[in-house]
Amino acid sequence: MGQHLKRMPTPIVNLQDHERAAQAVLSASAWAYFSGGAADEITLRRNLSGWQQWGLAPRVLQDLRGGHTRCTLLGKTWPFPLLVAPMAFQRWAHADGEAGMAMAAAAQQCGMVLSHQTSTPLQTVAPLVLTEPERGPLWFQLYWQNDAAYVQDLIQQVEAAGYEALVLTVDAPVHGVRDRERRAGMHLPQDVRAVHWPQATPAPAFATDTIGLCAGLANAAPTWADVAWLQSKTRLPILLKGITQPQDALQAARLQVAGVIVSNHGGRTLDTLPDTARLLAPIAAALRGQGGECAATTHRMNILVDGGIRRGTDLFKALALGADAVLLGRPALFGLAHAGAQGVAHVLRLLRDEFEMTLALCGCAQVQDIHMNHLAALEHHVNVHSAQGFA
Ligand code: LAC
Repeated sequence: MGQHLKRMPTPIVNLQDHERAAQAVLSASAWAYFSGGAADEITLRRNLSGWQQWGLAPRVLQDLRGGHTRCTLLGKTWPFPLLVAPMAFQRWAHADGEAGMAMAAAAQQCGMVLSHQTSTPLQTVAPLVLTEPERGPLWFQLYWQNDAAYVQDLIQQVEAAGYEALVLTVDAPVHGVRDRERRAGMHLPQDVRAVHWPQATPAPAFATDTIGLCAGLANAAPTWADVAWLQSKTRLPILLKGITQPQDALQAARLQVAGVIVSNHGGRTLDTLPDTARLLAPIAAALRGQGGECAATTHRMNILVDGGIRRGTDLFKALALGADAVLLGRPALFGLAHAGAQGVAHVLRLLRDEFEMTLALCGCAQVQDIHMNHLAALEHHVNVHSAQGFA
């Protein structure tokens, strides 16, 4: 890979190497923001160790001819079951920003979920992806705003630019307790801002008794009724990001939502949540059930997961536990931080290669061959093999 990667003192052969390289170039403030989590960062660490706590159970001497990595999401076939997760302020990490991230994702046949807090206009990013013939999906992530006119205008822009789904983040009505971020301060460079974020409005003069939770912020938190409203305002499929409980996944199914993203926001919002490796299987079991389809919905809901994916084996395990595809967050950002678009491309390429090797070594010719039986539950795990009918 080009000049930037060659300049690194040690060879970069895995995603952890990219993380070290990123830390070396980012300011203390940017490093704290991008790599940090909530409070004691227990969930942040759990996300990483969660995947390792599953073993693999490979089958040998399988026929691997004609193997491929294609997957189906929202009714369309894509080359590879991986998307770059929505992350704010990517131009703070590197001048290539969201444009570089999107180009690299498309070139590596992966999807891109653009953050509502993008520092590059959504209209600039979309064509960089849509013109690549072997690309992955292009989705837009949305934080609920209590301003119908603003939301409708933004949705119109998103639809007109060619985005293929809306990802509504539902787990962060308020920011979370960010010790690391507060210690380092959040010093955004002058020229980096969330270009589509609503203009700051003067704080309303609340009477003391109407302030409510979190100094009034929680008053603007979205509800299930707002999800239904959003569905009525867009022709795009909607996925809910930040689902951790089967009950909420079933509620989403009842609303005919297109999919759920099992996520604890990369350990950035509510600390001590379990790792997503643990949260995924019960949700897959609830949505896929014994007969394959959930009684609460007439369509097959997509299930995605993020958090702590660092190896091809992690991606494989996520699919075995019931995910249709996976979102990759920080590692893509770290590649961007120290080597721009080339760094992202290298990160995604490494993960693709590792995943293909895992597929072959586990005896799977394609993603659809991956099954719960390819996982070995280690002793301290509950036996999810008993929850049948998914994966
Ligand atoms: C965060 C918000 C932007 O995690 O989602 O920092």
